[in-house]
Amino acid sequence: MTASIINGKEVSQELRASMTAEVQQLSEQGVVPGLAVVLVGEDPASQVYVRNKEKACHDLGFYSEVHRLHASTSQADLLALVDKLNKQESINGILVQLPLPGHIEEKAVIDAIAVEKDVDGFHPVNVGNLVIGDDSLLPCTPAGVIELIKRTGIEMSGKHAVVIGRSNIVGKPVSLLLQRENATVTMCHSRTANMKEITRQADILVVAIGRANFVDAEYVKPGAVVIDVGMNRLDNGKLAGDVDFESVKEVSGPITPVPGGVGPMTITMLMQNTLIAAKRAHG
Ligand code: GUN
Repeated sequence: MTASIINGKEVSQELRASMTAEVQQLSEQGVVPGLAVVLVGEDPASQVYVRNKEKACHDLGFYSEVHRLHASTSQADLLALVDKLNKQESINGILVQLPLPGHIEEKAVIDAIAVEKDVDGFHPVNVGNLVIGDDSLLPCTPAGVIELIKRTGIEMSGKHAVVIGRSNIVGKPVSLLLQRENATVTMCHSRTANMKEITRQADILVVAIGRANFVDAEYVKPGAVVIDVGMNRLDNGKLAGDVDFESVKEVSGPITPVPGGVGPMTITMLMQNTLIAAKRAHG
């Protein structure tokens, strides 16, 4: 059996098209969603991510500000900028690109972002709301994962979902969102014993462990949905997921490729969060 490929780029484009229409309607009422992105330093990967976010804002008709700060910027100066953006009416979403230089405490910066403008969904109040199940801005990559599973048409309710990886950014929030969809969720991670025995029971397998080609066909139950959140740069410069796509697609059900699976969804969900924040700000 060869699996169907979940095309994250296509799903992303569909979502962006419906957002563009909504932004147009809002702009007729004088509302333009605004996103501020803050980049400290010159990390090459971060520079690419920030440029992509700026372009997405432009394509969708959002107002966008990018603040590029020197790597030596003090924590106090960064917090002062966040405070200014918190108060700025034209800005509905604030994203401080991570990682930050070592002399800046990430937690202090995330905690300083206004909860209603935290479009990353990283603020402890938004994380808490996610745990409780209250309405909150959802973290972008996990929200993208759920959207892609929904698009397969495969019901999550009652299914066994296994998540490999327990990061705050992906593994933990994905597991909460899967529970919200009434899946039965098992978490695996680097210390899990007999991982294959567990993952082979999964109807839905989400992999976010950060190791290139970690999951091969032996980890996968025939027909299972496989979502690969991995983005690993190989020595030859190529991008590889956490899933050995070529072997797994021979046994799995719908599966995401890397690139072109979860990746394109992250920025799209960021745009969606900014749109939600803008609508909330204007009642
Ligand atoms: N760096 C890599 N991914 C992300 C993300 O989703 N949000 C932020 N703020 N920084 C990142």
